[in-house]
Amino acid sequence: MTAVHPAAATATLGIPGEPTGTPADQTADDSLLRFPSGFLWGAATAAYQIEGAAAEDGRTPSIWDTYSHTPGRVRNGDTGDTAADHYHRYRDDIALMKSLGLQAYRFSISWSRVQPTGRGPAVERGLDFYRGLVDGLLEAGITPVATLYHWDLPQELEDAGGWPVRDTAERFGDYAALLADALGDRVRLWTTLNEPWCSAFLGYGSGVHAPGRTEPASALRAAHHLNLGHGRAVAALRSALPGSAQLSVTLNLHEVRPLSQSLADAEAARRIDAVGNRIFTGPILDGAYPQDLLADTAHLLNWDELVQPGDLSAISAPIDLLGINYYTPTLVSSRLGTDGRGAGNGAATRNDGHGASDHSPWPGSEDVIFHLPPGERTAMNWSIDPSGMYDLLTRMHRDHPGLPLLVTENGAAFDDYVNPEGEVRDPERIAYLRTHLAAIHAAIADGVDVRGYFLWSLMDNFEWAYGYGKRFGAVYVDYATQRRIPKASAHWYAEAVRRGGVPSA
Ligand code: FCB
Repeated sequence: MTAVHPAAATATLGIPGEPTGTPADQTADDSLLRFPSGFLWGAATAAYQIEGAAAEDGRTPSIWDTYSHTPGRVRNGDTGDTAADHYHRYRDDIALMKSLGLQAYRFSISWSRVQPTGRGPAVERGLDFYRGLVDGLLEAGITPVATLYHWDLPQELEDAGGWPVRDTAERFGDYAALLADALGDRVRLWTTLNEPWCSAFLGYGSGVHAPGRTEPASALRAAHHLNLGHGRAVAALRSALPGSAQLSVTLNLHEVRPLSQSLADAEAARRIDAVGNRIFTGPILDGAYPQDLLADTAHLLNWDELVQPGDLSAISAPIDLLGINYYTPTLVSSRLGTDGRGAGNGAATRNDGHGASDHSPWPGSEDVIFHLPPGERTAMNWSIDPSGMYDLLTRMHRDHPGLPLLVTENGAAFDDYVNPEGEVRDPERIAYLRTHLAAIHAAIADGVDVRGYFLWSLMDNFEWAYGYGKRFGAVYVDYATQRRIPKASAHWYAEAVRRGGVPSA
């Protein structure tokens, strides 16, 4: 049974007076795919990717500061030192969001800005930044959605062992309590972790993300402690926040598809589903790690020692919503197939598109080969396939009935540039957003309870190991001047928000 908090069934997400959950229907205008009233239209960012001000007002380095300053880790030597300078420009950025008519804004909080050592009391100046941000959003009529952790662990906690160490989960619970205290009177929608799969398996497995360790067993330990940290944070938030608070976790669930109908490829897909998806949905939503995952990884670590009594009930504390980030499907085959295909289709990647490494981010699944599906790709070389969005949402609804879903990230990078007229034309992004929103609309029409959509990203930003070279924003950032230029897609999205729907074609 999926653990859903009782408030979830009836809750709206912050637009007073407008109930959500009414069926998606066509209006008189057949060309518009209309979303339910109360559907929340937003955009997302993350602290390290936009804030800058890395050493200001008491902030200390996070693992991403250390990583980006390590030569060879990030393309072009880019760092988040200045990023989009949002720390100093947040008022203008809120005004920009308001001008686009955004209803909600999902941001993350930099742990080392508000609690520099990852322990002990908060730094008021750090909290003041987020208080100012949230107050500004509320004044502008924009619902704030706070993510507690988007990958930027305080370096001091990594020095003490990082996520592979159990104490980090306890520290995360304390940090959550401190934020509930500081922002609980004004933030109603909370997400504990962003994409713990990336934190665990790119951070400690393939090492293409901070802290850049390549230790398969540590990656699995990290996954458990991230789950436990989520549970501790839910407990801390629930006990401090009013009953109207809505708690969630954001997962980058993989829409895993086998390359062929062979048993071997089906087995490859099962393995990746286990270590890519069910390692989080199992304990968080069903209160147990899946047996097949435990068997696949038993040679790497002793799960019975790792998972202590009480952990699973803490991790499976009821949540109100599940955040889902979807960009592209995951196509896999088995090296152990009987047809001798060997090393895949030549476009194989084993790193889920986040960067190159000789180390796999998939512990226990070394015989799985990753493929790039044919067809259109984004500038990340991620294949464009909105059917993955539909399939993922309908599967989660089937597997966890009664649990409302929120698309907390979706979007695409393209090689945007400012034309001589001073505009950024990005028809590919408009097509990507339209088709993915149409897929969400179709899922809703088929009975899936999706409460909102957050475009990734509000503005161009530091795209992790790719630095500033990849632009995901609806708003273009000229990093030399920090000038913001809404792209054509920003205007398109503003119109979608205004009309409450997207064109059907
Ligand atoms: C997601 C991350 C986000 C951004 C997008 C492109 O995995 O959550 O920070 O990097 O991908």
